[in-house]
Amino acid sequence: MSDQEREDNQEVYHFSPDESVPNHVAIIMDGNGRWAKNRGFKRSAGHRAGMDQVKIIARHANKRGIKALTVYAFSTENWKRPLDEVNYLMQLPIEFFDEFMPEIMEAGIRVTMIGLHEKLPRKTKKVMERAIKETAHNTGMILNFAVNYGGRNEIVEAAKAMAEDISAGKLKPQKLTEEDFEDYLMTSVLGAYQNVDYMIRTSGEERISNFMLWQNAYSEFYFSSLAWPDFDEKAFDEALAVYQKRQRRFGGL
Ligand code: FPP
Repeated sequence: MSDQEREDNQEVYHFSPDESVPNHVAIIMDGNGRWAKNRGFKRSAGHRAGMDQVKIIARHANKRGIKALTVYAFSTENWKRPLDEVNYLMQLPIEFFDEFMPEIMEAGIRVTMIGLHEKLPRKTKKVMERAIKETAHNTGMILNFAVNYGGRNEIVEAAKAMAEDISAGKLKPQKLTEEDFEDYLMTSVLGAYQNVDYMIRTSGEERISNFMLWQNAYSEFYFSSLAWPDFDEKAFDEALAVYQKRQRRFGGL
């Protein structure tokens, strides 16, 4: 269904600055390739436009009072793509921080990352780690990059680390709680905002694709038919407006 059809078929919601916004928004930024193809561009042009959109939406989400924004920039499965596309995606963080760092600092945004850093190309890893370090004391919105990230991998890595602490006698298995397990997840860097409140996926696909499997346990989901490079401030506000109309019950009544 197109966004227009959705608007025709249902009430259109408008964002209200007086109602609550989700603390943690996570986005599967899908549709860069199709966006480029529809314009006769190479797929890389779609990813480049997608990178610019991360800037626009991060700026806007911060303005709206979102506390943490996670963007799925590269999954553990994306290595299966052609080498030139993988290489292109891997150099985007370099461009991103080159262009956006002054504004990140001015807005007080703190950069974090989830995923397997060690497997990233040296330069990509270096710029990501530098951004994390330089913004570590910022107190505004957290901009969290999922790079070389997979939800199942994250859970297995957490289980391994926990098992090691158990065998070292640091933990007693009988007493373990969900909160204890969360301390071992990569998203522990997000502190109080570890769990996702609102999960957005663009480009009309309606699946989770191994993204934050634990953290999405009670999140609300929103699917937009727009390709990620077209998902602008207006589209984000519409998504927030839909969230504001949802009733979250967390399994209760
Ligand atoms: C999915 O679209 C998108 C990706 C796999 C990459 C997402 C990356 C960005 C938006 C760039 C962000 C990077 C930084 C550092 C800010 P797709 O290529 O699968 O699209 P398709 O399904 O239309 O082919």
